[in-house]
Order: sequence, then structure tokens, then C-alpha cells
Amino acid sequence: METKFVSIEEAAALLRAGAVVAFPTETVYGLGADATSDAAIAQIFASKGRPGDNPLIVHIGDLAWLSSVVSACSDTAQRLMDAFWPGPLTVILPKHENLAERVTAGLSTVGVRMPSHSVALELLRAVELPIAAPSANVSGRPSPTRAVHVADDLDGRIAGIVDGGAAEIGLESTVIDCTVEPPVILRPGAVTRAEIEAVIGPVDVAEVRTDDVAAPKSPGMKYRHYAPKAPMTIVQGSEAFFRQVVAEARCAGKRVGVLVAEEHAHCCDADVVLTCGSGQAAVARRLYDVLREFDSADVDVIYSESFSEVGIGEAIMNRLRKASGGRVIAE
Ligand code: TXA
Ligand code: MG
Repeated sequence: METKFVSIEEAAALLRAGAVVAFPTETVYGLGADATSDAAIAQIFASKGRPGDNPLIVHIGDLAWLSSVVSACSDTAQRLMDAFWPGPLTVILPKHENLAERVTAGLSTVGVRMPSHSVALELLRAVELPIAAPSANVSGRPSPTRAVHVADDLDGRIAGIVDGGAAEIGLESTVIDCTVEPPVILRPGAVTRAEIEAVIGPVDVAEVRTDDVAAPKSPGMKYRHYAPKAPMTIVQGSEAFFRQVVAEARCAGKRVGVLVAEEHAHCCDADVVLTCGSGQAAVARRLYDVLREFDSADVDVIYSESFSEVGIGEAIMNRLRKASGGRVIAE
């Protein structure tokens, strides 16, 4: 059975009826369902193949809905919402009993965000319900940044997809835990640490782990993240070093893929060169697309350039480190 592309009105009706529907946000596509219905939420976990102990983010269409999703809101959290909502920031707060038990995977806290994408906002406001939505990929695949990625992963398993074009940001929201003092950034994203600290002062940042963790702050941190079929390694150093690494692998008989910014497309002699465009915003926007492309390219190994960690670069390198299982070689 093929999944239909649906209008905002059709999607709203489906969501109200307890179905799961994929929709665009400014970060990545989300797989939405009524956050107050256990049966609807169960379908999200089933269609993605998501482990039941990994909680979902709840999306709201208006600040007035917050009091039906969280049971308390600190001053710090309020300042963050005022500064960055609607937008790519998820705030963790004590959860409201209204929410379906499974949304938060049994935790006493919930992640909540108000997206800025006009289609997402219009949809939420048409449904008039808080909508739980993880990224709309099959668990273990890169988050979808275009409707076709959602269809590739979930065709026939969900009630509909709203196509809103390519996601503007391309990486998932920044997640910040506001139930602790100082707050802790659990996942870097487009809202940077510096921007957050300019509003609420110093925050902590959770350590990036690529191995399994027994009791992670954010349950999502313990799961193995997407890794391309061919092992990927991040290369740190000069262009000459990158060229040498690629040449050595090819000498050893490997078909080599490289992931680089547009300006480095001709930096080396590889079998497959995939570029993420030029500039940080383009790299963020294109990264998951390119990672998906590598799976249909016939390569034995992938070498990625190491991108700057300034601003959204922190999120870019966080996702790249996860995709490469922490493999880095430095000059
Ligand atoms: O940009 C985004 O955040 C996208 C769009 C669709 O909004 N959503 C998204 O959801 O990336 P998901 O489920 O793929 O990632 C949610 C992350 C997971 O790492 C999860 O463990 C963490 O947020 N999380 C959710 N609720 C939490 C909670 N109560 N405490 C700690 N971490 C939480
Ligand atoms: Mg996800």
C-alpha cells in the first residue's frame, strides 16, 4: 500500500482520528500523532521501529498550549521560549499528566517545542492538539530532510505525508534540559550554546558518546545512530593529508567515497565525491541527504572532511561523529 501525500486539512483530520502523519518542520520531517492518545503514540513506535524507552518530543502550535503539556515551567525555560520560539529548540520540563504515558517513555519529564515552519504551525493549529513527533525516519536511518526520504523509509506504514519541500535547517533541534541547574544541552542544534548563554547565562553540555551508555541523560543518546553502510572516518588535517589518506586507501584496492564542502570537490582523486554545498548552513542542510546517497553509491570506505565547530558547526560535527562511530584520523 502506498502512502498518500495529503493536504494540511487532510493531515489534521487524520491526526484527530488517531492516525500517524509525517509533516515538515524547519529542522527535519516529523512523524506526528496525538500526544494525548496512547493508541496513536503506539503507532509511531511501531511504524518507525523505535525502542519504547526513547521518549518523543511534543510539538505545540501556541504558547497557550504549554500548560497542558508541562506541569511546571521555570523562569529560565520561559526566557528560552521567549527568545527562540517558534524555532529549533526543544526544552525538557516536568510533564503534564494529560500526555499519553508512552510519549515520555515513562519519564517524569517531557521535551516540548514550537516549530517555526509555516506548514507545521498551520497543521498544529488546525489539529488543536499537542502532537508528539520524532524524526520521520525508520529507526537507525538519517533523519529525513525531504518528503521523498520519508516515503523511502515509511511508505505503506503511515497514513499520509505532507510535502513542504526541503527542510531549511536540515539537522534536528537543539535539546536543553531545564529540569536541572544549570541547564544541560543534551543535543546540539541550530540554536547554539553561545546564543543560549547570551539569554540565560552559563549552561553545561552533555558529553558526546558514540558507545553505549548505561544511564544517559537523554535516552536517545544511548542508541547507535545512523552509520552509512561503508565505514566512515573523519579526516583532520591539511588538504595534502586528506589527499594522501584517499590515495593510500585506493592503493590498497578500496573504492573510496569522500564527503566534502563544494570548494573541496577537486581536492583529491576519489571514486565517488559527494559535496554538501558551500558554507555551514548548506552543509547542515545537505548532510543527511548526502549520507543517504552514500548508501546507494558503491564504495568500501568513506572519508569526510572535518568541518568547523563554530556555531551550527558543533551540531554538524556531532552528527558526523555519530555517523562515523567516533572514527577520526588526524595528521
Ligand atoms: O528537530 C527535531 O527535534 C525533530 C523535529 C521533528 O521536531 N524531532 C526529533 O525527534 O529529532 P527525535 O525523536 O528524533 O529526537 C528526540 C530526542 C531523542 O534523543 C530523545 O531521547 C530526546 O530528544 N528526548 C525526548 N524527550 C526527552 C526527555 N524527556 N528527556 C531527555 N531527552 C529527551
Ligand atoms: Mg530521530
